[in-house]
Amino acid sequence: MRKDATYWLDQTQAAGLKPLKIKGQILLPIVQGGMGVCVSASGLSSAVAKLGGMGTISSVDLRRRHSDLMKKTGHLDKEPDARSLIDAANLEALDREIKTAKLNSNGQGWIAVNIMKALSAYEGYIQQSIKSGANALVVGAGLPLDLPELTKDHPDIALIPILSDARGVQLLVRKWEKKGRLPDAIIIENPRLAGGHLGAARLADLGDSRFEFEIAIGQILEFFKTSGIENEIPLIAAGGINSHAEILRLQRLGASGVQLGTAFAVTQECDAPQVFKEVLAQAKPQDIVEFVSVAGLPARAVRTPWLDKYLRILPVLQERAHKKLKCNMSFDCLTHCGLRDGDATIGQFCIDQQLGHALEGDLKRGLFFRGAGVLPFGAEIKKVSDLIRFLLTPVASNTEIQSSEVNNFCPTRGACVHLEQGFEKCIQDHQCFDDDLCPLHSSFAPNEL
Ligand SMILES: Cc1cc2nc3c(=O)[nH]c(=O)nc-3n(C[C@H](O)[C@H](O)[C@H](O)COP(=O)(O)O)c2cc1C
Repeated sequence: MRKDATYWLDQTQAAGLKPLKIKGQILLPIVQGGMGVCVSASGLSSAVAKLGGMGTISSVDLRRRHSDLMKKTGHLDKEPDARSLIDAANLEALDREIKTAKLNSNGQGWIAVNIMKALSAYEGYIQQSIKSGANALVVGAGLPLDLPELTKDHPDIALIPILSDARGVQLLVRKWEKKGRLPDAIIIENPRLAGGHLGAARLADLGDSRFEFEIAIGQILEFFKTSGIENEIPLIAAGGINSHAEILRLQRLGASGVQLGTAFAVTQECDAPQVFKEVLAQAKPQDIVEFVSVAGLPARAVRTPWLDKYLRILPVLQERAHKKLKCNMSFDCLTHCGLRDGDATIGQFCIDQQLGHALEGDLKRGLFFRGAGVLPFGAEIKKVSDLIRFLLTPVASNTEIQSSEVNNFCPTRGACVHLEQGFEKCIQDHQCFDDDLCPLHSSFAPNEL
């Protein structure tokens, strides 16, 4: 049977979930978050869009996926036109990726482009995404207060900022309203759990209660109500989401959809190499670490040999921080970079170089961003359609799972965080939403509860 977007939308409704509606377009309530460098490009985004979801291409340094563009620009160093040539190659690569993704998604779903506000090429990526036919612009890593002006001649493209709390939403919505535009949706990313750059000012704030969905979504909906814009801006919750029960809970709280990053990064269709997926999928909670990136934002990644060493020698690097004559990669990817600008208060590494190593599958030297959440399939690399099916399957149907698959797998919460070494011992208070429906806890470890 052909399983197209209509099939998955029917599954959504059958699972008791509401589809996500943005600018009149009906989509799956599961969005694939943008992941750079080259982790989410045309392959992953089109696989998600083909099923009726919103797949997101990360705009940054996509030339790395195109050997002809790398041949033209990979060697550039001190040439005066290095930056403009690299920028042009990246725009060409973005154009190719958007067009390929649109073509391969067979007119289903949406292709969005994720653009970090902190990037020097931010405006160029926005204009290119519009020109190449993206359906939505998703902007995070900074407040995109200027997005309405930058897109004013293109009212059809959806504008979706990424924020983390009600304060940020209020500020942005008030400023945008004055410019006659409202966001078409807002992604609310919880920095306690999400991967990559995080929306808190300081590491110490990552666990702040204002970011918790229960609080943030409630406050934002209240703000919408008092501002007379109730039901106008769909909210998409992101960070650590890994089960149907969680999506249902978030929709009951008032979110219209959810965004997942790490779980999509470990799918077969993800554009990163196998080693990249294995590093993310096999990481244990104790391997995941938070630090301040060169962009000045907290970030979360797997503690690989490079990151471990970097964090150990960071005080020395910060002591020696000084303004460099030129950017390490010759294209100034960030407007403000701790390494290039000699800012000793933030990170001291070349982010494009380290993410590039991860993309090459270099376990020793790469920077592997990852969320802190537990993955739905544990260490397994599965297809996008398996992930979507799992997320759209209510708990009761999941009890069909074979015991061999059950090892670190709790149908209610996704992979089970409460069990140590299989399912003999419950190491935390059981927090499943419906204990009776959890075969692990009810069938295998009843005495431990
Ligand atoms: C490998 C990786 C790279 C990411 N890169 C970006 C990025 O370039 N821009 C961005 O806005 N978010 C980025 N994110 C965040 C994701 O889009 C997503 O919102 C987040 O990971 C959700 O949390 P989850 O991983 O727990 O599902 C990245 C996440 C990962 C895991």
